[in-house]
Amino acid sequence: MVRISFEQKPYRKLMMATWGANCVASPSTETKAGQTILEKDPDTPGSLGIAISEAIEAAVTDKSGKTRYSLGSVTNFVCMHQTVIGLETKKQLEKFGEKKVDVIIGCAGGGSNFAGLSFPFLYDKINGADIEIIPVEPASCPTMTRGPYVYDNGDTAMMVPLVAMHSLGHTFVPPPIHAGGLRYHGMAPLVSKAVEEGLLTPLALHQIESYEAGVLFAKTEGIIPAPETTHAIAAAIREAKKAKEEGKEKVILFNFSGHGLMDLTGYDKFLTGQLTDYDLPQEEIDKNLELIKHYPKP
Ligand SMILES: Cc1ncc(COP(=O)(O)O)c(C=O)c1O
Repeated sequence: MVRISFEQKPYRKLMMATWGANCVASPSTETKAGQTILEKDPDTPGSLGIAISEAIEAAVTDKSGKTRYSLGSVTNFVCMHQTVIGLETKKQLEKFGEKKVDVIIGCAGGGSNFAGLSFPFLYDKINGADIEIIPVEPASCPTMTRGPYVYDNGDTAMMVPLVAMHSLGHTFVPPPIHAGGLRYHGMAPLVSKAVEEGLLTPLALHQIESYEAGVLFAKTEGIIPAPETTHAIAAAIREAKKAKEEGKEKVILFNFSGHGLMDLTGYDKFLTGQLTDYDLPQEEIDKNLELIKHYPKP
């Protein structure tokens, strides 16, 4: 588990322990990839790219041959698998008698929940439907809005093949925001391609605006959203306000990707004024992209 999430989301590791897993913070001393990163930066918050490298190393070096590693996001097959969300949503909208959706929103870490909701509607858009589709990312890990479309590795130790995607560089370690699931340096290749084709309108939001939206949602709907999900809610609120200002009635659809009951530490920090927004300096982006500038171009 990525170290910063290990610290910020203690109940998640306790759930894993309850079911019998031994959960270690990544980077760990248990893999070569983890050791190499810890030597360079012992205080790193970790990243999803590093955790993927460690998980793959643990799987391929396991002598029992019983260990398997399965990616839960980013890869196109995960995005396609999750389109059950969008397909079911279409059926629900039919039941509500809603014929047209104007705006579709999902938070995007690796891209899977966003793709899952939006791709069935993207098909309609490609075939002429007028729909605005917005993947929302954190301003501190702005893969689609500030990262170029390049070939890059999906993990930090470069164990997986190159993929064409929007990326901040596989060595990029995002600031320790509470939406840990959005701290990924790249983006699903299919989502990235759709951005390149001008089919999507990516948006980057800061965590404080997102938490404000999460708290408003909790007060009005009674459900506490995950910090990742609050990014989609904040974007939906922006769109609703815009529609009101324009005097237009719009159907705005967003994906509620998860509850926040494992993330109450983040809410505690927000409610007690301890959260900050992180502005990502351009030099930080350039530094990591420099390392992949010799890679082939998509
Ligand atoms: C609640 C929640 N939403 C969204 C995400 C982002 O992942 P993806 O972009 O693959 O949907 C995560 C990732 O951990 C998550 O935990």
